[in-house]
Amino acid sequence: MNRNEFMNKAEEHLIHVYNRFPVVFERGEGVYLYDTNGKEYLDFGSGIGVMAFGYNDKEYNDALKAQIDKIIHTSNLFYHEPLLPAAEKVCRISGMDRVFFTNSGAEAIEGALKTAKKYAYKKHGVGKYEIIAMRNSFHGRTVGAVSVTGTSEYRQPFYPLMDGARFADFNDIKSVEDQIDENTCAIITETVQGEGGVTPASKEFIKGLRKLCDQHDILLILDEIQCGMGRTGSIFTYKQYGITPDILTTAKALGGGVPVGAFLVTEKVAANSLEPGDHGSTYGGNPLALSAVSKSIDIIEGRHLPENVVALTPYFESILDSFTEKYSFIRGHRGMGFMQGLIVDKSIPVGGILNKALDEGLVILSAEGNLIRFLPPLIMDKDGFDQMEEKLNKVFAAI
Ligand SMILES: Cc1ncc(COP(=O)(O)O)c(C=O)c1O
Repeated sequence: MNRNEFMNKAEEHLIHVYNRFPVVFERGEGVYLYDTNGKEYLDFGSGIGVMAFGYNDKEYNDALKAQIDKIIHTSNLFYHEPLLPAAEKVCRISGMDRVFFTNSGAEAIEGALKTAKKYAYKKHGVGKYEIIAMRNSFHGRTVGAVSVTGTSEYRQPFYPLMDGARFADFNDIKSVEDQIDENTCAIITETVQGEGGVTPASKEFIKGLRKLCDQHDILLILDEIQCGMGRTGSIFTYKQYGITPDILTTAKALGGGVPVGAFLVTEKVAANSLEPGDHGSTYGGNPLALSAVSKSIDIIEGRHLPENVVALTPYFESILDSFTEKYSFIRGHRGMGFMQGLIVDKSIPVGGILNKALDEGLVILSAEGNLIRFLPPLIMDKDGFDQMEEKLNKVFAAI
């Protein structure tokens, strides 16, 4: 079956919610992907920030294979071997006290929202349930997560959503303060907005949120599903801001490719929120997923991948600067570490650029605001950045 026949046949069966690029991937190796025709692609997308240490890593694969041969699933009615090391490690690297494992980022958000509501309910009774979220945020596609996602097109078709979500402007502390009232139970924000435009939070904003939450006894939820696990140069981005959230969400690179997420809480929150019967998941944190979590943390820490991000970010940014200088339709860049966005003039739709990059053998992503979004594997080296520069120069020169 040729590529087009394959794609057409697949589309006959799939619910059409993605406009997929015309590529059928077969395998990956390090920072490269290969399609069914054997064509090589340099990966600057990491499967949307998941494949932190690239593809087909032997140490990771062996750990998963060993776990498959022992046991894949038990349910959460029982303890299993990978549970303790994974829980210990994720609490240690995050500095949080307790964890609940989920199957995705959106589910981690759902758990975070329920935890915040239960905390307020236990302290104040019914009524204190409002959550302040940010415009341009993205927290996932389940109903609770969509309710706090700051893009009205994602929310509107599904009204009525979860009651009590209010929106403020990202990086504008006054706008958040204006939304707080006696019914507020939590503030949720990404530390670096991803889909919404690759925008880092300012130090004043995150510190200001922490202060507001402490003043009003409301909980600060930081969503590091995209920007966590080393992507911005520290294991979690908030560590660069000198504060600790009350609830943290993570997913994507947490499992190195196996679907898994988590929400984590401080002891103060744990002691005053979810109790037996309040939450659960059949799969959440099963042995296979948690062997992946354990090994991913070992690899990200053991191979010093956040340090690689710190070392190579100036080089990455200098390439983005050179694009800005060379091409009038590139209007600058923003981001943190290996999470960067190149701003393209609105007259040139980014979708077309992504397709042309694929022709050149380069995978890149987009973000709101006509941005090219780069989420390379954290193992990307100087040579990889040079190859990206060469390929994108070809694409840009032809525009
Ligand atoms: C910041 C953030 N939160 C939540 C999610 C949702 O995660 P998932 O797609 O695993 O449900 C995403 C996904 O892109 C994200 O970037």
